[in-house]
Order: sequence, then structure tokens, then C-alpha cells
Amino acid sequence: MNPNPKVARTPWTKALEALERRSRRRSMRRVALDDDGRWVVDGRPVIHLSSNDYLGLARHPAVVEAAEEALRRWGASASSARLIAGNLEPHRSLEEALAAFEGTEAALLYSTGYMANVGVVSAIVGQGDAVYSDALSHASLIDGCRLSGAELRTYPHADVDALEAMLAEDEASGKFRRRLIVTDGLFSMDGDVAPLAELAALKERFGCWMLVDEAHATGVLGEGGRGSIEQCGLSGRVEFIVGTLGKSLGSFGAYVAAERDAIEYLLNRSRSFIFTTALAPPVVAAAHAALEVLESEPERRERLWDNIRRMARGLEALGAETLGTTTQIFPLLVGGDAETMALSDALLEAGLFAQGIRPPTVPKGTARLRLTVTATLEADEIGRALDILGEVGREQGVIR
Ligand SMILES: Cc1ncc(COP(=O)(O)O)c(C=O)c1O
Repeated sequence: MNPNPKVARTPWTKALEALERRSRRRSMRRVALDDDGRWVVDGRPVIHLSSNDYLGLARHPAVVEAAEEALRRWGASASSARLIAGNLEPHRSLEEALAAFEGTEAALLYSTGYMANVGVVSAIVGQGDAVYSDALSHASLIDGCRLSGAELRTYPHADVDALEAMLAEDEASGKFRRRLIVTDGLFSMDGDVAPLAELAALKERFGCWMLVDEAHATGVLGEGGRGSIEQCGLSGRVEFIVGTLGKSLGSFGAYVAAERDAIEYLLNRSRSFIFTTALAPPVVAAAHAALEVLESEPERRERLWDNIRRMARGLEALGAETLGTTTQIFPLLVGGDAETMALSDALLEAGLFAQGIRPPTVPKGTARLRLTVTATLEADEIGRALDILGEVGREQGVIR
């Protein structure tokens, strides 16, 4: 309700109208489960190709049971920040398990991946420092860079030569004290993997640190599901690894893994860690159980990769443009914002949930559907999804 009737249209209404005119107004779809556990979106039963629960652990019996047990034992809240009274046994034991998983000395939980990226970057670099970011790094990394006060240098996506030139120039100028390279390991909207081996070689040559955000890579890439760092053979060479608990780990929250003193430093200086209530015990216990399943049931990752290959073959047969992805994230490039949302709506109508992604999440002119494949999809669901995509995509002129 407008509390000031003299002002006919508030600035918010006008801003929303402007977004609407540009096909950029966002709204949330209603996502529900029917009694048989199937997804229902905006009232329609669907094949769900928009989930980040890549291994299907959010509803795994061991994960649900761990959350229930923690709920009964510890209650629904940690009731305080970690440094006040919220440092409970589930937090401590999950951090130990995460450090062992990542092969680092220590790990520190954050309430979200957004808060981890913002809180880590802004604590470890500041004025007088430089931070080098891939142009497609996640918004939370970019916000961390901005908040830090360090000079932000953005290199074109995955362009190692451009980064090398920037590093060499800044080295020659001697302008900066500390230097940090930040990147997603697996890019969330494009599905490609960062050229980590080349980036690590550069950071070692130029004496920088490196932070890799493994949000979408954990559980998917690498022999043991440890992510892009493991896949690229860089274990032990990356100073800061950020991981999230809300994707393959089926729960909620995030962590940074690093050497012990770096973690102790963050505990003392990282504002988004210090000034917030600790994660609730049930989500911590759920993530811990999910980590154990991730390690003990590698067949889930194998199923995921079978599904990824099945989807890749099908999309190729349809002649769909997927920006050369090599992972579980399939961007289906459309271009225009309105066209993208029209396609997403038409697919939903036909029983396929594939969310449309527009700027500023992706660069202007590259709006797309973001299809994600999970381990729990059945082969015939992928087959039906491809049929729907082919039919609706042709009708809408996106697939020829
Ligand atoms: C690459 C990347 N990093 C960080 C985040 C933020 O994680 P969270 O959802 O836990 O805040 C996301 C998305 O959610 C992401 O895609």
C-alpha cells in the first residue's frame, strides 16, 4: 500500500515499471512437492532442470536423519554468533571434516557463500593492494573485491594472457603491497572450468595469492569430488578455497579452507563471520552427513556424469548452442531478455522447469536458459526433457 496517497507513483513503482519495460523485472516461481515427492512449479508437475542439488543429497535419508537428530539435541538455532556462545560441537567437527576433505590445515564456516566471499576477500586485501578477478566471477566475489578497498582489476573471462600482462605491469610499477587473484573454479552460468593450472603458475611467478570459489565444483569435479582444484592437479597450491554447503552438499552455508593462521586471522578480522549468528545445528549436521555420503558413495557422482553425458549428447543432436560447457551446467544461449523468459515460460507450460537467466547475472545480450543436470534424474526424464526442449525450442525459433 502507498502510505502517501499524494504521491501517485512511488519511486519503487516507477523502478519496477522501468524493469518491466526492459523485460528485466524478476519474480519468484512457486516451487512445491506433491505427495509423491515430485516437483511442482507454479502449479505444474515438472522435470526439474534448475536445481544445484547436484548429487541429490538434500533429501538423502542419512542427511535428513542427521538434521532431525541435531534438531532434537541442539534445537533449531545456535542462538548466538560463533565468537559469543554459538561455537557448538557440530560446527567444530564439520570444520575439521571440511579441512580434511580440502587437504588444508583448517576451515571456517560462514552462513552463506555470499558472506564467505565478501568476508574473506575484504579481510585479506585492502587499500594499497590489488585484486584480479575474472570478468565472470560470481557477484559475491566482485562485491568482496569492491568492499575491500583494494584496486580491482578485471581480466576478460579465462584470458590468462591478459591477466599476465596486468600482473607484469603492476609488478613493474611496484604500486601494490599484496596481490590476490580470485575466480570461480566452475563458472556458475557458463559451466566451463577456469584455467586454474595457468592461473596458479602466474600467481606463483608473481608472488600473489589465489582464491578459488568451488561452489559448483564440489561433489562434481575431481577424482574424489573435491572440485576444480583437484581436477586440475593443484591440491595444496591454492591459498584460499571457498566452498558452499547449499549445492552438492545438500544443506545451507559455506566455508573457507586455508592454512591455520589464515583461518585464525579471518576469525579475528572477517566481519561477515564475526557479526552474525552461527549456522543452525540441523543444517550443520545435514552438511556433515552429506559430506560423508559424498565421500562414501562415489556412484552418485558416476550417475551424475552419466546424466551429464546423456544431456550433452541430446543437446548436441538438437543443435543447441551451449557455449562449450563441459560440466553439469548447460547454458542454452538465447540472447534477448524477453525471448529468454518467453522460452522459460513455454517450457514450464510443457512440463520442463528451466530457469531463464538475464543481465546483470550474465552479460548484456547473452540471456540464456540455465539447465542443470543432477544425479537423481532418470534417463527417461532426460529424454522427455530433450523432446520438450526440441519441440518448444523450435516453435520459439531458438533451436533450428
Ligand atoms: C559461484 C558462486 N559462489 C557463491 C555463491 C553464493 O553461495 P550461497 O548461495 O551459499 O550464498 C553462489 C550462488 O549461490 C555461486 O554460484
